[in-house]
Amino acid sequence: MKLFVIVLLWALFAITHQTTTQDNCVCEFISSEKSFPHEKLKTVQDSASNCNNIITPQKAFVLKSVLLGLDRRLPQLEEDVAVLEKEDDGELYGVLSLHVIENELSEIQQLIDKLNSTASEHKRLSDDTAQKLEDVQEEMQELETFDAMQVVKKQQVNQRLKRDLDRCKNGGLHPIPQPTEPTEETCPHGQLLNVTGPRVFTAGEYPGSYKYGAWGRDPKPEAGKESWYWLVMMTSSNIYSNYVRFYSTLSALIVGVSVPGNIQIHASNPTTNTIQGPNVVLYGGALYYNCYNKDAVCRFNITTKTITSLELPKGTRYNSKANFCHLEECYLYTDLDLATDESGVWVVYTTTQDFGNLILSKVEEGEVLTLGQTWRTSFPKRGVTNTFMACGILYATRFVNTTVEEIFYSFDTRTGKENFNVGILIHKMSPNILSLNYSPVDQMLYAYCDSKIVSYQVLFQKGSDSYL
Ligand SMILES: *[C@@H]1O[C@H](CO)[C@@H](O)[C@H](O)[C@H]1NC(C)=O
Ligand SMILES: *[C@@H]1O[C@H](CO)[C@@H](O)[C@H](O)[C@H]1NC(C)=O
Ligand SMILES: *[C@@H]1O[C@H](CO)[C@@H](O)[C@H](O)[C@H]1NC(C)=O
Ligand SMILES: *[C@@H]1O[C@H](CO)[C@@H](O)[C@H](O)[C@H]1NC(C)=O
Repeated sequence: MKLFVIVLLWALFAITHQTTTQDNCVCEFISSEKSFPHEKLKTVQDSASNCNNIITPQKAFVLKSVLLGLDRRLPQLEEDVAVLEKEDDGELYGVLSLHVIENELSEIQQLIDKLNSTASEHKRLSDDTAQKLEDVQEEMQELETFDAMQVVKKQQVNQRLKRDLDRCKNGGLHPIPQPTEPTEETCPHGQLLNVTGPRVFTAGEYPGSYKYGAWGRDPKPEAGKESWYWLVMMTSSNIYSNYVRFYSTLSALIVGVSVPGNIQIHASNPTTNTIQGPNVVLYGGALYYNCYNKDAVCRFNITTKTITSLELPKGTRYNSKANFCHLEECYLYTDLDLATDESGVWVVYTTTQDFGNLILSKVEEGEVLTLGQTWRTSFPKRGVTNTFMACGILYATRFVNTTVEEIFYSFDTRTGKENFNVGILIHKMSPNILSLNYSPVDQMLYAYCDSKIVSYQVLFQKGSDSYL
């Protein structure tokens, strides 16, 4: 045995000796640990982007969406793996990172499966592109085997961690820090500078079926639902809906696999307290929307399936009497626009006594819903196509042409100042934006445009670090 080792060492010495010059001694470090192939990941990522450029949305609409998903997923995976490698302490941090990576890999696998099935549907695609897709797929599978090894390795660590955690609990320690919540007064991001994208652009699960709708992420998700996305479509007469649909990840939404599926408000559509109009939001595990045939905001608790409602002031315009409009068209039943930002839920509407000008009220989400502070603007609601809130500032959009929408107006609730010259352009994928809402968790704008699902990244002065 010893002799064998010596022979090996001698062989190694001989090899390294041969390959070095006399002046330089080079020692080659051979680690028994397989390190993550960042280079390979980068190549795959480039291929995915390449395919993305080659294939036009007209040619392969679904492919494009899936590739967008991949484009977005791969850098995140790379980043997380890098963090894992750097921070891996063999304890809590390592296990948590690994868990995140496992989830990402399974999402990527879903996307690749979808790519595979779509690829075979689209025979028109050039062989070259198809080959590239296959390469991406193969390489991703290789990357996956890498992870499988890690998972096995980590299982022991996991067990040790569980033991440590139990000990920690019994020892009466409380090591979990509470996240700091942004308050109404402090906006962590500074001024809104620009909107880029689209980042996500997909036909969703029902391509072309429902012109009006909304989608997004819960800014204050319940535990375990952090990566969920929601979708509400006006399934009756383009006006009414009676359910909200959930997807466990963005990839699931893109490939159209809904788990846990529909959560129904009522079996009939429409009926008392079902949804009227597309500008709905999900916040804190509840859906906020204009109640059917009422000048009121409804809150549907997803967990308990109970509804609370909040009457708006007398004179509030409803039932399609004060819609969002542009020159060619008004968007039916858009009297009430629910919105979310860092500080919670808002409602944008108008009243007869305010001559149709935009009004903004904070919705206080206690056990009983109440109307908080109200601000009055000097701009008519019919003159804008949609609104959203970000960092306590109301923004309004107008229709420029079929490919461009402009964020032209803002109202700051802290100063009461109006700005008619915001001048930020949104690149549209479809002429009409039927709902638009800002999500403070990822600083994204979620838009529903003529049945298409689109999102944009909002750029702030101080930058945004979230990518998910
Ligand atoms: C891709 O799809 C084909 C059939 O459409 C199937 O035979 C093949 O196994 C799939 N490949 C992968 C890697 O999923
Ligand atoms: C805003 O973003 C768009 C799209 O990415 C870009 O073309 C434009 O130059 C940006 N504008 C500013 C002022 O940064
Ligand atoms: C939903 O109902 C449950 C049970 O009453 C409650 O704990 C939770 O806070 C409610 N959620 C919302 C958003 O009102
Ligand atoms: C829409 O407006 C933008 C900005 O003014 C302009 O650059 C673009 O050419 C217009 N597109 C069409 C189709 O008119």
